[in-house]
Amino acid sequence: MDRNETWFNFLEELRSRCDLASIAGSYTNLNRRGTRYWGCCPLHHEKTPSFCITPEMQRYKCFGCGESGDVIKFVQKAENLDFMGAVEFLAKRAGLTVPRTVGDKGVQDKRKRKQAMAEICLETAKFYRSHLMSPHGQFALEYLAGRGLSKSTIAKFGLGLSPDWDSLSAYLKSKGFDMEVAFDCGVVDHDKRGGYFDTMGQRLIVPIINSFGEVIAFGGRSMKKQINFAKYKNTKQTDLFDKSKNLFGINLVSKKKKQGALQYIIVVEGYMDAIALHQAGFDSAVASMGTSLTKEQARLMKRYVDKVYICYDGDAAGTKGTLRGLEILKEEGLDVRVMSMPDGIDPDELILHYGVEAYQKAIDDALPLTDYKLSIEKSKFDFNSKNDAEVQDAKRKYTVNALKIISKLDSLVEAESYLKKLSKEVGFSLDWLKREMSNVNTQEAVLKETRQEEKEQTLNLDKYGKALYFILACMIANEEYAVLDFEPDVEDDEFLKKSFEYVNDCKAQNKAPVAGVLTDIFEGGYSQNIDYLAETAFATTLENKRYFQDCVKLVRRKQIDDEIQRLNALYETEADNEKRSVITKELVNLMKQKNDMK
Ligand code: UTP
Ligand code: MN
Repeated sequence: MDRNETWFNFLEELRSRCDLASIAGSYTNLNRRGTRYWGCCPLHHEKTPSFCITPEMQRYKCFGCGESGDVIKFVQKAENLDFMGAVEFLAKRAGLTVPRTVGDKGVQDKRKRKQAMAEICLETAKFYRSHLMSPHGQFALEYLAGRGLSKSTIAKFGLGLSPDWDSLSAYLKSKGFDMEVAFDCGVVDHDKRGGYFDTMGQRLIVPIINSFGEVIAFGGRSMKKQINFAKYKNTKQTDLFDKSKNLFGINLVSKKKKQGALQYIIVVEGYMDAIALHQAGFDSAVASMGTSLTKEQARLMKRYVDKVYICYDGDAAGTKGTLRGLEILKEEGLDVRVMSMPDGIDPDELILHYGVEAYQKAIDDALPLTDYKLSIEKSKFDFNSKNDAEVQDAKRKYTVNALKIISKLDSLVEAESYLKKLSKEVGFSLDWLKREMSNVNTQEAVLKETRQEEKEQTLNLDKYGKALYFILACMIANEEYAVLDFEPDVEDDEFLKKSFEYVNDCKAQNKAPVAGVLTDIFEGGYSQNIDYLAETAFATTLENKRYFQDCVKLVRRKQIDDEIQRLNALYETEADNEKRSVITKELVNLMKQKNDMK
């Protein structure tokens, strides 16, 4: 038995022991309706159930956030793990041991490489730090002191200094590291002479550390004021570091959470802002590193808290990118509060010039996301015009936009209280606003439905295709009526071909097929086809057994028709009489089969 086969068998065993409904059921309440389970989606925040499990196929699909997959993918998403992490998680639960020595060779190699990369990053951070602390780093220490950073803050964040362009590569070489791996880490770059140079050359260094405490990348601040020279340079995207999936400072937040004292996270834009906040005692700050927030960052935070304060520089707040980022946080179930900074001032400067109290006040005054969005809408209109008609027009336009915002709220009670406020602001009656809002709601609902339908029509199957998928699904579900007395002609369709092969192999070995195994056979590919299989299979209202037999007939008849056509064409071109009579016999036989089916 080769390595792959052992691994494959292990996955099959694991899948057969991990029932998706019972695993997902520990994250959300599931109710059985017909053959399916429904509940509120554990992968995004919602109040009405759109998460659905098809037990026969061991697949889930959320009609709200669009996520779908099998039990391993579910654990990956719910626990924020990679594939191997999820396999280990499930194996532990099922009392199985992951075959260590074999496993997926590719995955193991990748792991080893990541470990090697993390080692290089750590060594690089130490190198930068020791240079900052050496006499050569004196000027940088003075710069940091001038910005008000204490020695212990500098130590806490492991700040450093890149001395020049070549000392780092010489150092890493002397330690015996593979320089190509160092290149993959993004700490060195290729020079023109086949050597390597320090990517952060002469910059002040801020190590970026993940939630497990591993150094994965660096931010480098230029110490010189030069035009055409970016103030910050960040490590490129690597296997360890993806700027859009990480948050600077998350390691400290994670530590605080373990001590049980974390209530919320403050998100700022800059490294220096996060560092200054920690020093001032706001030790749950992270930096988004300048980009607008992503779903992955939102999920990362949701692992630690339910509440997030957003504190962007005065000029960034309210821009489209910022608003989208806030919306993403909310979609992940976070309670979002928006702080406001005076124009042109960042948190670091606010604390430096106005003190800790000023920052605390900004936290206390933070607006809930809805209030913030309403205030931005309101600021777009002029209610103070001397022209009465203009004021009325502004109020009407603001009301339309405000209703769109309020109508998105999950809680009716909350919506009502915003409507009351709005009614006071614009002078329209509460009843009228309510009626207008229900109009907005129906329009939105229609839009959402058509979008969903557009998404669904992706596989484009004809009726034979649909029948084949249904047949396959019943066979995978091991229904006793699901027996085929002919070979379906699926040679040209890799997905159907391999899937039928798997099911037939199982039948030959007298064992029940395991639905999730398809994911392994296709190594994560064809997920749309697998989804379709799960979705259509048991959606029919007809009795499945009868529908199965109808599908079989449909497919069989088409195959016979195709064969008759092929033989007819052959007959036309065949000159040899003996061969012609063989073809005729076959044709008669097929006609008879077709008649018998009626
Ligand atoms: P800021 O310029 O606001 O950062 O950029 P800062 O922390 O306040 O910088 P100081 O106080 O002048 O030292 C916000 C963030 O945007 C990213 C960095 O992550 C930075 O922390 N950025 C900014 C870059 O990546 N490149 C740049 O050239 C500038
Ligand atoms: Mn700053």
